[in-house]
Amino acid sequence: MIIHWLSSIDSTNSEALRQLPRLPSGSVLAAYDQTAGRGQRGNSWFTEPGKNLTFSIVLKNLPLKASEGIRLNYLSSVALVEFLDAKGVKADIKWPNDIYVSGKKISGMLIENSLGPEGGIAASVIGIGLNMNQKEFSRLALATSLALCTGREYALEASLEEFLAIFEGLLPQLSAGELTARYTSRLYRLGVSARYHDLLTDEEFEGVIEGVEADGRLRIRDLQGRARLYRFKEVAYLL
Ligand code: BTN
Repeated sequence: MIIHWLSSIDSTNSEALRQLPRLPSGSVLAAYDQTAGRGQRGNSWFTEPGKNLTFSIVLKNLPLKASEGIRLNYLSSVALVEFLDAKGVKADIKWPNDIYVSGKKISGMLIENSLGPEGGIAASVIGIGLNMNQKEFSRLALATSLALCTGREYALEASLEEFLAIFEGLLPQLSAGELTARYTSRLYRLGVSARYHDLLTDEEFEGVIEGVEADGRLRIRDLQGRARLYRFKEVAYLL
């Protein structure tokens, strides 16, 4: 993988998409400062300049059909929790791909795929924001960083290389069943009873997360024994 460090850019995902035809697979664009970082659901992704990792990985010619794009989320999520494991921090994956430590978000990702003529994923831009050294957040109750978890400071360049080595090591598993098992085993609230809000029926219920379907839907077994399947934005976690 080849890392290009940018001092400042609107968004590494936007830049990777603009440069996509010229960037070989395995290119990584990393920024010390993002002026218009993008998050999920059209939200913004704000981080203090120079403190955190904000980067986008470009992958091309992937062995995935469009319907299997969720596996890129699995791979990136597993790579993130395994990177944090190596730093001594136990993180969970809040389905589908937010990374949490003790109930606070430490990392999020925005994956943007382009489809090829035969319905495969021709290129993927995997944008990751990972809070490293930032210690103050405007909504501290909701966010954390590696430095807040361990009390240490981290070199961004070396940390990105360490993360990418883990990510690259997992790439051969992109199509393998074991990746789903590794992803599932790290799901937040796996196997424990908790409350959820079904956003399709506007109903609250208690259930247990059992895992994910092949198409990436979350499976929650409710108290009546019914398996409920949800796509992104169809269910909310209640406290
Ligand atoms: C989320 O949790 O809402 C997703 C956040 C994704 C942020 C990363 S930072 C690097 C890349 N560039 C962007 O503009 N967004 C992603």
